[in-house]
Amino acid sequence: MSTFKKGLQDIVAATSSICFIDGDKGILSYRGIDIHDLAEKSNFEEVCYLLWFGKLPRQSELDQLIGDLAKNRAVPQEVFALMKSFPKDANPMDVMRTAVSGLALYDPDRQASNTEANLRKAYRLTGQIAGIVAATERIRRGQDLVPPDATLKHAANFIYMLTGKKPSATAERAMDVALILHADHELNASTFAGRVTAATLSDVHSAVTSAIGALKGPLHGGANIDVMRMLLEIGDVNKVEAWLKDALASKKKISGFGHRVYHTEDPRATHLRTMSKELCESSGNGKWFTMSRLIEDTMKREKNINANVDFYSATVYYTLGIAVDLFTPIFAVSRISGWTAHILEQLGNNRLIRPRAEYLGPQYPAPYIPMTGR
Ligand code: COA
Repeated sequence: MSTFKKGLQDIVAATSSICFIDGDKGILSYRGIDIHDLAEKSNFEEVCYLLWFGKLPRQSELDQLIGDLAKNRAVPQEVFALMKSFPKDANPMDVMRTAVSGLALYDPDRQASNTEANLRKAYRLTGQIAGIVAATERIRRGQDLVPPDATLKHAANFIYMLTGKKPSATAERAMDVALILHADHELNASTFAGRVTAATLSDVHSAVTSAIGALKGPLHGGANIDVMRMLLEIGDVNKVEAWLKDALASKKKISGFGHRVYHTEDPRATHLRTMSKELCESSGNGKWFTMSRLIEDTMKREKNINANVDFYSATVYYTLGIAVDLFTPIFAVSRISGWTAHILEQLGNNRLIRPRAEYLGPQYPAPYIPMTGR
C-alpha cells in the first residue's frame, strides 16, 4: 500500500478535464481557459456550459442554455412547505442540505440515471438552489416568496428572488463575477465528497447533498461567513493590528487566509479584492475594505500567508446587503455548476472510490476478553 498523507495533501485521486490549477504560479482555469479571462469577459451561464459540455458555446447554444436554465427554476411547493416548517433560526446551509435532499423526491427524472437525465438534474438544481437560498431568507423574515423571472439571467434573478427588487447593473455584474469565480475548483473537499457519493452509483441529488454538507465547514466554504464576523467583531481600522496580533499569538487560524493548493495569491482573490474596493467605497462602507487590506498586509508580513477566495467575497456580499449567514449558501449557488460537472465526469468513467486506511489500533490478533474478565 502507498504511504499515508494526512488530509490527502498532493494525492492525485482522480483524472479530470474540468479544472486546471497551478498552485505555485497562481493559475486557475476552467477547461484550460484562464479564470482572469472568464471573470472579465464571460458570464455565469456561459461558464456552466463550459463546465458541463467542455467547450465555449456558440450563440445559439448559449441562448438555448439560458432558456433551459430559466425554465428549470421552479422549486416544488412541497419543498417550500418543508422549509416553512423549519426553525426560523436554522442554519441556512442545513436548510439547503435538507431542501436539496427533498428535491430528489419530486424530481421528474427521479427514476432515471442516464446522462441526459443527470444533465437535466444539473439544470434544475442550478436554478433551484438559488431559489432555495432566496426562499430561506424570505421565509425567516416572514416575507412572501418571489417567483423567478424568466427574463432575468441567473445572477439578476437570484438577487430579485432574494430582495424582491431587480438589481442595479453594478450589483448584477458583481454577483455574476462572484458566481464565475466560485464555479469550480478541482478536487476541493465538497466536490470530492460529491464524486465519492456519485461513484457508488447513488444519485445526483445524494451526491450534491454530500457536497453541501462538506461545503458548510469553516475550513471550506464556511470561511466567508467567519471573515465577515471577524471584521464586524474588530469593528474599526484602529483595532485591526492589535486584534490580529492577539489572534496570531494564540495560534488562531484567520479565516479567508491560506490554501491547500495555492502557494501564491489565489487568482480569484485578485478580482474579489477589486470588486470589494469598488463596492465598499461606492456604498459608503470604505472602512471594511480598508480593514481588509490592513489584515491582508499584516498576514503577508507576519505569516507570509495570502488571502483566499473567501476573504474579499465576504465584503462583496456584505455591501450588496446580503445577510452574513447566506454567504456560504451563495457559494453553493455557483458551485452547483462545478459539482454537477464533476458528478457527470465521474459517472462517465466510473470506478468506486474506496481508499485504504493505515491501521494504528491494537495489534492483531487482540484477545477477545469475556464480559466477566473486563
Ligand atoms: N491563519 C493562520 N495561520 C494559518 C492559516 C490561517 N488562515 N492557514 C494556514 N496557516 C498556517 C498553519 O498554522 C500552519 O502553520 P504551522 O506549520 O506553523 O503549524 C501552516 O500555515 C499550514 O496550515 P495547515 O492548516 O496545515 O494547512 P492546510 O493545507 O491543512 O489547510 C486551510 C488549508 C485553507 C484549511 C487553512 O489555511 C485554513 O484553515 N484557513 C482558514 C480557513 C479558510 O479560509 N478556508 C477557506 C479555504 S478556501
